[in-house]
Amino acid sequence: MRIEILASAKEALNKNFKGKNVVVIDVLRATTVMITALKNGAEKIYPFKEIKEAVEKREELKDGFLAGERKGLKIEGFDFGNSPLEFTEEKIKGKVICMTTSNGTRAIENSQSADNIYIASYLNVTSIVEKIMESDKDLVIVCAGTDDEFSLDDSLCAGIIANKISEKKKVLMDDFTISLQNLAKFSKNIKEVLEESKHYSYLKKIGYESDLEYCLTLDLCDIVPEYKNQEITNKKASLS
Ligand code: MLT
Repeated sequence: MRIEILASAKEALNKNFKGKNVVVIDVLRATTVMITALKNGAEKIYPFKEIKEAVEKREELKDGFLAGERKGLKIEGFDFGNSPLEFTEEKIKGKVICMTTSNGTRAIENSQSADNIYIASYLNVTSIVEKIMESDKDLVIVCAGTDDEFSLDDSLCAGIIANKISEKKKVLMDDFTISLQNLAKFSKNIKEVLEESKHYSYLKKIGYESDLEYCLTLDLCDIVPEYKNQEITNKKASLS
């Protein structure tokens, strides 16, 4: 199996992932939100690049919630922002969510040509690794990044996934992937590694410190969200 990590959503644009599995990561915070919402019983999530598309889908469904952010803040008129802690079981159980974020939902859309697209964050690393290990297809890990730039929070998570797979089977990696695998091997404390990073610092500055703590929790659940036919659903039951 070959593993390749892409540093941002932009790198996935117009790439052909046919015959491959893709894992999309936007730790802060889109994919953490998706995993949390499904863990807490949301029925499905429709991800969109544009605000307009999410609003139109919500109108077509005549049900469900609008969720998302721009510059990290809730979009005017939306039901939810992009804080995973908002997506409690009481609020979202059985509900459909139409979601748009700056980078995460774009990364998913840019990965559409893959055979299978899975959604990961620190919350579900081990179950994603197990899912990927079920086949020998090559893997591309698409980090959403921030505004088309490398983002350490996503890349470290991608490195952890690549490293865990490499512990279980022989894999081929390019130099970028090897460097993130090594970063993962020697990073004992995720928070310490990320504390000074750009998007982490920005979210802290705008008041989302409790989100940060939550988003860096390893293996909180065994959710394996899959994006297929424009929607994200859970392929595995929650542990907690
Ligand atoms: C994104 O998709 O860019 C992020 O999830 C932004 C955020 O932290 O809300």
